[in-house]
Amino acid sequence: MLYDMIGKTYAQTRQSDPRIAAKLLEIVEPFQASRIVDIGAGTGSYALYLAEQGYQVLAVEPSTVMRSQAIAHPAVRWIDAKAEHLSLPSHAADVAIIILALHHFPDYSQALQEIRRVTGGGQVVIFTYDPDLISSFWLTEYFPSFIADVQSTFLPIATLTAEIETMMDTAVNIVPFPLPHDLSDSFAAVGWERPEMYLDQNIRNGISSFAKLNEDDLAQGLSKLREDLEIGIWDQKYEYLRQQTHYDAGYRFIYTNI
Ligand SMILES: C[S@@+](CC[C@H](N)C(=O)[O-])C[C@H]1O[C@@H](n2cnc3c(N)ncnc32)[C@H](O)[C@@H]1O
Repeated sequence: MLYDMIGKTYAQTRQSDPRIAAKLLEIVEPFQASRIVDIGAGTGSYALYLAEQGYQVLAVEPSTVMRSQAIAHPAVRWIDAKAEHLSLPSHAADVAIIILALHHFPDYSQALQEIRRVTGGGQVVIFTYDPDLISSFWLTEYFPSFIADVQSTFLPIATLTAEIETMMDTAVNIVPFPLPHDLSDSFAAVGWERPEMYLDQNIRNGISSFAKLNEDDLAQGLSKLREDLEIGIWDQKYEYLRQQTHYDAGYRFIYTNI
């Protein structure tokens, strides 16, 4: 289990971001659901947020290390299971959410079938990344192997939406989520205008692409980034990013109609 190895400090750097949480709520609210299953819930930061908004949350997470960092809430029930076999009765939830976790599921089709069973064909909300955009992100200049890693890990958006539309027999919405400059959930593109963040090992520990890098590629990329920041090369090329409030790195909300 990858996150039993890399997830020990996840809760320190991967707190829920209020803008992502608000968007999630905006998508889910019109469905007038009360029960949400959060699949690949991690340390539960978004499960906790939804519980605080009055939802009953089933947080499904197979990693003991991740579950052990969760903050308990009476409206969140934790389930030690995988997306492909949810260990929940049919119609146990009205809505399923998957936040930056689908790319870790070995069998996403089986996971979608399970979601259909457990929600009885209810709403599905997925927050994911469009791998077509990875090569345009400046970080890949320092860590080129991220391109192959991301392209082999994340499903193309068109493939994912076609699968959902067929399986759920409903139309799918795709909503880009440009990242704010002060994102508080430190996932891979968190430092789009704060490159110094990637020099911090705590930040890198919460990003699975970094965890998968070999030592030489990591050392080489960090040394080049450190040097480019010191001598001003990074700013010469990308200073314009520091003037932006938002940046569309490729993150997307994908959700079924109600
Ligand atoms: C990047 S974390 C995201 C956690 C959480 N959703 C968040 O946004 O903070 C991905 C999570 O998916 C979990 N995961 C991996 N394989 C899984 C599977 N087959 N079924 C369910 N969850 C899985 C990992 O253990 C990890 O906690």
